[in-house]
Amino acid sequence: MTPAALEFVGAITLEALTGRPVHTGLFDPGRALDHIKLARAARAMVVAPATADFLARAAAGQANDLLTACLLAADGPVLIVPAMNDHMWAHPQVQRNVAHLRGLGYRVLEPDEGMLAAGEGHGPGRMPEPESIFAHIGRLCEAPGTLAGTRVLVTAGPTREPLDPVRFISNHSSGKMGVALAAAAWRRGAEVDLVAGPMSVEPPLGVTVHHIESTDQMAAAIEGLLPQSDVLVMAAAPADFRPAHPATSKIKKSNTPPNVPLVPTPDILLATKASRRPNAVIVGFALETNDALENGRAKRSAKDLDLIVVNDATEAGAGFGVDTNRVTLVARDGSEDLLPLMAKTEVADAILDRVEALIGGR
Ligand code: CTP
Repeated sequence: MTPAALEFVGAITLEALTGRPVHTGLFDPGRALDHIKLARAARAMVVAPATADFLARAAAGQANDLLTACLLAADGPVLIVPAMNDHMWAHPQVQRNVAHLRGLGYRVLEPDEGMLAAGEGHGPGRMPEPESIFAHIGRLCEAPGTLAGTRVLVTAGPTREPLDPVRFISNHSSGKMGVALAAAAWRRGAEVDLVAGPMSVEPPLGVTVHHIESTDQMAAAIEGLLPQSDVLVMAAAPADFRPAHPATSKIKKSNTPPNVPLVPTPDILLATKASRRPNAVIVGFALETNDALENGRAKRSAKDLDLIVVNDATEAGAGFGVDTNRVTLVARDGSEDLLPLMAKTEVADAILDRVEALIGGR
């Protein structure tokens, strides 16, 4: 805590809340080397909230308190999270300091927009939420992988095909697997587009989300994004068929149709064959209830995929809604990797390890 921070909250309060020692003074007796020890022991350094005064002192390379001294002694990644009045944030001096700090390699977040202190309106200046800061720490700590500088397109969730204005055909996809993949790709340094149907989970921080409803809309979104994408991971479960003649007004109970004629929706992955970038890595999923591996191999080859993630929805702990999955990765070179039951977040990392290896080999 800087002397300024101690004006707002006492060190004892933070010590009691965190159960951790709070360091304050650069010149406290017996603590002469604290700034070196703290800086060396840290995996990453996070300054939150960072004031305009801190930005100025950091940009000038000062070391006149414990915080700025630590900053100069740090050799790991640094995340700076500014929070201040919107006019102060907009001031050219502050913006110049931010630009200089970014030039030094520090990651400086943009403040959130919203209500500021003293009824000062709604400009940018708020400290981002802790979840957002936490996600950025994860990205910062990730070893620089081959996904840095790449654009990854992920699809997630189900699609809905209307029967009438109030009813639809869909499936049980939750979007968890796609969200885990998008989060992991962003953490590994990629620019991530997530095309999401109506999911039962929140999209992850950091990624650009494109909300869609129907399979046609998902196809159109992918068509627009694929030419800029280095990787496509098709984790969504688009509806495979839709009512041939959706009613324009609610179908009354008294008028229940004896049957509903269905027509197929486009196979999105298959249709991307024509518009993929030459070196793009294409990953699909196969959701099966019988002969999983055999069907998966056939889908990989029919849809011309580098990798297909085969899962059997009938297995305990695999498939829709749950947080775990048990998959086999079938690759273009014929290799098949049966992974144990693991969290979907771990499955996402296993898939992206393979994607990174494929990019590296091209
Ligand atoms: N997929 C797609 N477009 C569709 C349906 C599926 O792009 N209209 C994608 C899925 O996202 C997945 C892969 O194709 O990556 C395989 O999906 P799956 O439902 O397992 O197979 P289908 O191709 O739909 O074949 P089937 O229903 O006969 O099993």
